[in-house]
Amino acid sequence: MRKKIVAGNWKMNLNRTESIQLVSEISKEIKDIKIGNNRIIVAPVSVNLAAVVENQGNDKKIEYASQNMHFAEKGAYTGEVSAGILKGINVNITLLGHSERREYFKEDDVLLKQKVDAAIANEIEIIFCFGEKLEDRESENHFKIVESQIKNALFHLKESDWSKIVLAYEPVWAIGTGKTATPEQAQEMHAFIRNLVKENYHNNVAENVSILYGGSVKPANAQEIFGKPDVDGGLIGGAALKADMFAEIIRAMK
Ligand code: 13P
Repeated sequence: MRKKIVAGNWKMNLNRTESIQLVSEISKEIKDIKIGNNRIIVAPVSVNLAAVVENQGNDKKIEYASQNMHFAEKGAYTGEVSAGILKGINVNITLLGHSERREYFKEDDVLLKQKVDAAIANEIEIIFCFGEKLEDRESENHFKIVESQIKNALFHLKESDWSKIVLAYEPVWAIGTGKTATPEQAQEMHAFIRNLVKENYHNNVAENVSILYGGSVKPANAQEIFGKPDVDGGLIGGAALKADMFAEIIRAMK
């Protein structure tokens, strides 16, 4: 059975001290929440990852992810981080394909496929992000765009690789805008995505993959969005930077 996940993408926010502080505040806020099979993940700025992992102590409720990863094992790639480097600090999860990486750093499907392969080869779990822009939705191309983003980067994978894949649908027009997809729009797209996976693999792959929604998720709308049958949690930006809000969103994951 697939897991529910609430993941916080901190983007380029918080220094080392603030990162450690936020993790400790979140830990306090969620102390009494029964997580069970569900998962909580946070993705700090990469230079602060080692510090938060080392500070974690025995509290294993929160898992840590990188926001990005390079496809090469090592070499002349100034400013980049490899799978091996992440594993060296006990980070075994990475986001890939976030719309900000696609938009500002020109990451395309070909590059993302290479990154996906590198992560899989190194047994790094991938939270694979994708989603349409406003103009794609307005021209009713959103299903086509999402289908090509997923197909081009993921559908060459073996069925067994899918145990390392989490999908995150983030419509670009809903990111940081305060404008969320309605729960119905999210459900419609998530059901479409699950069906794509089913058609290309098997029903059990589709049923086991967690599909997160991201884009202006807040305590006020989390419960309704997460209540939809094909929405398995969320990838949270702004609201993940406040411990009380993040904890409330975690509580919305039943
Ligand atoms: P917001 O929650 O700030 O809209 O950001 C969503 C996001 O981009 C998470 O990756």
